[in-house]
Amino acid sequence: MAPSKKVGKKSTTAPPKKGAASSSGPGKVAKADWKEGFKKKQAGVSDMTLLSTISNEAINENLKKRFENKEIYTYIAHVLISVNPFRDLGIYTLPILQSYKGKNRLETAPHVYAIAEAAYYAMNAYSENQCVIISGESGAGKTEAAKRIMQYIAEVSGQGEGDVAGVGGIGKIKDMVLATNPLLESFGCAKTLRNDNSSRHGKYLEIMFNSKGEPVGAQITNYLLEKGRVVGQIKNERDFHIFYQFTKNASPEQRETLGIQGPESYVYTSKSGCLDVPSIDDAADFAETLKAMNIVGLSQDEQDSIFRCLAMVLWLGNVQFGENEDGNSTIPDEGVTEFIAYLMEVDKDTVTKVLTSRVMETGGIGRRGSIYDVPLNVSQAGAGRDALAKAIYERLFQWIVDRVNVSMKPQVRHDHVIGVLDIYGFEIFQDNSFEQLCINYVNEKLQQIFIELTLKTEQEEYVREQIKWTPIDYFDNKVVCELIEEKRPPGIFAALNDATATAHADPSAADNSFVQRLSSLGSNPNFESRGSKFLIKHYAGEVLYNISGMTDKNKDSLVKDILDLVATSSNSFLQELFPDKVDPSNKKRPPTAGDKIKLSANALVENLMKSQPSYIRTIKPNQNRSPSEYDSKAILHQIKYLGLQENIRVRRAGFAYRNTFEKMVERFYLLSPNTSYAGEYTWNGDPQSGCAQILKDTGIAKDEWQMGTTKAFIKNPETLFALETMRDRYWHNMAGRIQRAWRNFLRYRNECASRIQRFWRSKKDGIEYARFRQKGHDLLGGRKERRRYSLVSMRRFAGDYLDVGGRSSSGAVLKNAAGLGPSETVVFSGRVELLKSAFGRSSKPSPRFLVVTNSAAYFLISSAKDGRISTTVERKVPLVTIRSVGLSNLRDDWIAFNTTASEEGDPVFTSVFKTELVAQLHKATSGSLQINIGPSIDYAKKKEKRQLIQFKKDEMVVRNDVYKSHVVSVGSGEPPNSQSRPAARRLPGVVRPITQGKLLRKGGPSTPHPSASRAASKPTPKPVSLPGKVAPSKPMSYETSTPAAKSAAPSSRMPPPPPARTAAPPPPPAKPDVPRYKSLFNFDGQDGEMSLKKEEIVEVKEKDDNGWWLVTKNGSEGWAPS
Ligand SMILES: Nc1ncnc2c1ncn2[C@@H]1O[C@H](COP(=O)(O)OP(=O)(O)O)[C@@H](O)[C@H]1O
Ligand SMILES: [Mg+2]
Repeated sequence: MAPSKKVGKKSTTAPPKKGAASSSGPGKVAKADWKEGFKKKQAGVSDMTLLSTISNEAINENLKKRFENKEIYTYIAHVLISVNPFRDLGIYTLPILQSYKGKNRLETAPHVYAIAEAAYYAMNAYSENQCVIISGESGAGKTEAAKRIMQYIAEVSGQGEGDVAGVGGIGKIKDMVLATNPLLESFGCAKTLRNDNSSRHGKYLEIMFNSKGEPVGAQITNYLLEKGRVVGQIKNERDFHIFYQFTKNASPEQRETLGIQGPESYVYTSKSGCLDVPSIDDAADFAETLKAMNIVGLSQDEQDSIFRCLAMVLWLGNVQFGENEDGNSTIPDEGVTEFIAYLMEVDKDTVTKVLTSRVMETGGIGRRGSIYDVPLNVSQAGAGRDALAKAIYERLFQWIVDRVNVSMKPQVRHDHVIGVLDIYGFEIFQDNSFEQLCINYVNEKLQQIFIELTLKTEQEEYVREQIKWTPIDYFDNKVVCELIEEKRPPGIFAALNDATATAHADPSAADNSFVQRLSSLGSNPNFESRGSKFLIKHYAGEVLYNISGMTDKNKDSLVKDILDLVATSSNSFLQELFPDKVDPSNKKRPPTAGDKIKLSANALVENLMKSQPSYIRTIKPNQNRSPSEYDSKAILHQIKYLGLQENIRVRRAGFAYRNTFEKMVERFYLLSPNTSYAGEYTWNGDPQSGCAQILKDTGIAKDEWQMGTTKAFIKNPETLFALETMRDRYWHNMAGRIQRAWRNFLRYRNECASRIQRFWRSKKDGIEYARFRQKGHDLLGGRKERRRYSLVSMRRFAGDYLDVGGRSSSGAVLKNAAGLGPSETVVFSGRVELLKSAFGRSSKPSPRFLVVTNSAAYFLISSAKDGRISTTVERKVPLVTIRSVGLSNLRDDWIAFNTTASEEGDPVFTSVFKTELVAQLHKATSGSLQINIGPSIDYAKKKEKRQLIQFKKDEMVVRNDVYKSHVVSVGSGEPPNSQSRPAARRLPGVVRPITQGKLLRKGGPSTPHPSASRAASKPTPKPVSLPGKVAPSKPMSYETSTPAAKSAAPSSRMPPPPPARTAAPPPPPAKPDVPRYKSLFNFDGQDGEMSLKKEEIVEVKEKDDNGWWLVTKNGSEGWAPS
């Protein structure tokens, strides 16, 4: 046998050292569990596939150890074994429930919640319908387990925000599903010798979920209510709970109108001598039942009708028959029948007649014959009465189930279903009748499913998938199922039907006919005929059935009289319960009870086989409901017939998980870069090779998986869980990436925004400066020639060029020297050349600092004294004393402040910023300043002594101007009306990368994206549709979903970098009639200049005032002297 890799090896290849495993005993070492150390110490092994010895005894030993350690749950792989603790272990609290949420089976201790979680998880993850099959003897804990599953699912499934369930609502559906428990238990459970709350019917609850895993509806299928219990029970058992709840707690009004008294007043509820059960609080349960009725939406009318039917049943039981002298039945106490007639809303005499006689028709079915009343004897009358009571109750029960289903019907489309099967357990009584045959038959069918799916199919699958496999023997109970249900050769049900068909008046004759027919089954090894009894060797034990009354129970048809009676009722609810119309022309034999149970059992099997099953196998530790007694022998018996040992063997040798290649690929393609790209499935090969690729790429050990012909097999559950974890992490990582990209984008956006803002601010301020400058030129009003370089570009009028108003230390020196007051703001500062008259010599310009504030102009002078430079105010000219300024009309830099008379005369100086200075002064004096521009500047040299400075053009003065004896010589400038050229564009400078994010290109936007070229060379895999999936359902276009395509696209759309800035604007286009000139002398040109010979003819493209013309000759250009 191949032990499972992680867990089995040590226990099979390395026997425990002596004394090392004292707690487990020799030969049964509990395998070290990774949960050890941080979990409560577990007794035995929590998964019996880890048992070192596989035998029924070893299983029993392990279960016992755990039971005594209050651990009632144990796994065989994904099958849960549950031993009824018969006490509250405190293991169903909300915190415990929550601790199973989202965990896989191996992460947590075995629990019914883990099974529920696994089913719920698998439904959502693998989109498969699920079912939980709970089996075990009566009282072993099936119903409890089913309730825990429902509780778990209600707790963890969606909370139904944005309620999509329509009228019902998800919360309401959950409430209703949970409410079906108390409701159906009241009507369908009873106290038996084995179980105080024994389910007397089978129930398959299907909860429907939408695609979000929220419950949107539910449906209950009901199987074979044990209706015989309505009219009688064996000693110390009870009728259905509802009868005790109702009779003990009916309202005064109900007591009045329905004649309800205590349970002791009715034969049906009191005959078996058990009215109270210590563990049951009928009053509390009744309140619960009424609450449940309201939750599932039963109206008051409907509830009233239900209780009226219960009253009918109770009162029918009290009809007593007497015997007249002919031996026919009579009813001595007409008061009872009268009350029944009142309850049923029928005629009293008809009731009496129906109960004491039967209408007979001669000539058989379908033929016209004479009809006459046959009086019934006392026992026949009693049987007829009970039949009516049973029929009313059975139909009432079915009505309730149907009604609940109407309430729980999904209002919207459902995607998946989780079914929970809680059916009556295998039963062996002293006296076993038709009911036990049916119950045990259904249990055989369930065992068959279990065998089919866990033992047989599993092994067959290994063979079919060509997986290396050694077959394991087990008892296949198929033969027993066939013995009971086969048509040909006739099985037990078929024989019973044949016998039933012959029964007309005499049930015992029919029973005898059944005995005859059974004799043909004598050769079957699982069957023994024993006179009026027969024995079936069930998988769970041998059961001896009593034939007496079987044909009658099988016939299960109401006599015509009863149907006629109900038909006359004016109670519409009762009419609804009995829709059957008597159709005398129908020759077809109505289906028997056996037919019905066979049909529904097979429908159930078919339904279950369509879902992924989970199993809970419940074990009853003792017959006494004792929390401490571990009845080893009884449990060993259960272990054997449940086939646990075989289950372990198959499991150990086999593979924990398998699924079709398609499903595997669909689930896990994300895990391999070879099968996915950006979340899309990209494998072009077949699913099988894709699946193998994934398993290879995920690094799963080769002996952990095998490829079959249609499925991949995974040996250990740990491996599957590892794959699942990887998948979870994948999405987690992807989410992280998206978040990162988004954050990068936000950073990028902010950075761009702040750059734009910065740029705009600088521009905005620049515009202010530019406007101011324009204003300065406007002030000069085109009256003064301009310096050529002043036109080159729009220079800002920044004003404070020496930073006197700023923070620099050089600025501070000037500020201190000027002794500026606190309210003075510097509007202009700059270096100037002040015209100074030196004694005995002619005046000449001398450097000064000029600082202009909003109130005065300061001329500062720096001088060296004792090796130290000091700066002092030479002259302060309050702005109010400046009446006007004088400038020449040529391109020189001279300017004079014409002040009100002062001893020192007017300051005359040069400043390259003269225009700006004028503009600032103009502004500072609120426009009162007068600006004189002319061919000479008139100023006061001294007080009362005026002087003119003449300006004349002298082209020999190339740069600046020359002052000599009141004459300034200056070259020609640009025409006074010249306009400055637009502001220069800022140099691009160094572009900082906007961010370092992984998804953003390195080095900023101007460097090409490295992946842009990569994307071109490495093709992006095209997404393909998943195997078995229809591709067009994807609303998204694949082309746009690949990030490479996305990131590459913008880079191609990026604007090209700005062209390198050209130093001079392009020359204007040549005019059609270009002026031609003849050169007057030889000129030897240098770089950029044009060499010319005397008399050579050239075209002049541009005439510059500086004495140079741009000429063209033979297609080449160059400057030449004009
Ligand atoms: N897990 C459990 N914990 C505590 N008591 C339980 C548990 N399971 C069953 N029981 C007890 O056993 C009784 C019978 O269980 P039940 O589920 O009705 O059996 P079944 O449906 O298999 O016949 C319950 O009424 C309860 O008292
Ligand atoms: Mg039950």
